[in-house]
Amino acid sequence: MWGRADYMDKIVVRGGTPLQGEIVVSGAKNAALPLLFATLLTDEECRLSQVPKLVDIHTTLRLLRDLGVQYDWLNEHEVALSSRLVRCFEAPYELVKTMRASFLTLGPLLARFGRARVSTPGGCAIGARPVNIHLDGMQRLGASIRLRQGYVEAEASKLRGAYLPLEFPSVGATENLLMAATLAEGVTIIDNAAQEPEIVDLALLLNAMGARISGAGTSRITIEGVTSLHGANHVVIPDRVEAGTFLTAAAITSGDIFVRGARADHLAALLQTFAETGVHFSVQEDGIRVTGNRRPCGVNITTLPYPGFPTDLQAQLMAMLSLGVGHSTITETIFENRFMHAQELVRLGADIHVQGNIATIHGVTYLTGAPVMATDLRASVSLLLAGLAAQGETEVSRVYHLDRGYERIEEKLSRIGARIRRVKGS
Ligand code: EPZ
Repeated sequence: MWGRADYMDKIVVRGGTPLQGEIVVSGAKNAALPLLFATLLTDEECRLSQVPKLVDIHTTLRLLRDLGVQYDWLNEHEVALSSRLVRCFEAPYELVKTMRASFLTLGPLLARFGRARVSTPGGCAIGARPVNIHLDGMQRLGASIRLRQGYVEAEASKLRGAYLPLEFPSVGATENLLMAATLAEGVTIIDNAAQEPEIVDLALLLNAMGARISGAGTSRITIEGVTSLHGANHVVIPDRVEAGTFLTAAAITSGDIFVRGARADHLAALLQTFAETGVHFSVQEDGIRVTGNRRPCGVNITTLPYPGFPTDLQAQLMAMLSLGVGHSTITETIFENRFMHAQELVRLGADIHVQGNIATIHGVTYLTGAPVMATDLRASVSLLLAGLAAQGETEVSRVYHLDRGYERIEEKLSRIGARIRRVKGS
């Protein structure tokens, strides 16, 4: 059933088949999560469509329901939400520890209700991931912040507009502060803001709700506070990370895939890398096509905040480059521990050496299937991609990570020729 993580499930892939055909991108997880939390900012109904059916979306709706939000699925991917009856202002550890984006309740609850008690997310497999930038910004907006028993306790009779220079263009901090500032008194400027497409999508919804935001998508966002927000309808942008994953699947299997809904403007860094490695692609009106007609050349990649190369596509590229010609390097600058997949790829026969935040990949001519273990969302999908290209069978365990961010991935891949099946845990 969607939404429930089955911890013992495995996915078995028989590799060697060039994937062929068309695949449709779902709505973006990393846009839908803040959009759902933004609906807390008004007591009127909001409707979001193209909402993907993922474990993280399920967790978000559970948290919102516990706060008092009423929601209904109007169809497969459209949900109507009302925060008219919100009476609870706490995001509990049990939920926040399973999905750190729950920390995005802080801004909306503080702005609309003047108080919030939100568990700190703690670290995760890919890094320490502190929330100091979020808290520093909330304090500058006039909130009193106390850390007690693993919770942030925040209060403010009325938030006041302020100048918020972020020490790092954090996606989450930009989203949390953007939402908080919409109902603050006066003008807020977020400087060195994150510029990701998900930020632009959030600002689009907030402006449709009556906010006054300009500059989203640039490093300087200006928000003129308003006294209240109203309901609105919004279509979630396509998932650029899911799209990038499928485009890489075509390259690594020497396949030919059209990814319907993939947006070239959101994937410029990936397409630039494809051009450098010799992976053939064509941008079409309603999507992108990749024809993996040859082994990619080696390349050097450095992950950076948008519009730089996304850290969420780093693992997928590592799998592709492990079958490249010559050697490549990947420098991970966003998260301090995001190479867990490297050793698992080595189990499939890849030649990868990690030193600090730099991975050096010497391309090999083939991979061989083996049992491997997923450690986080993007690491798990890179193992799946490598399995699709490897000779023989690859068994990926702990695939519950995948269900957090990929909607019905086995179905989508088997429709374009993948020999893939899920083995239910007993
Ligand atoms: C978002 O996480 C995404 N998650 C991540 O995607 C993505 O990898 C990340 O942005 C970077 O692009 C969602 O949108 C739900 P950050 P977020 O705050 O907001 C440090 C996936 O695979 N930092 O931009 O948590 C932090 O430790 C996920 O879908 C602070 O030091 O990322 C990290 O090193 C994984 N203090 C860096 O900034 C803070 O207060 C980037 O974090 C906040 C962040």
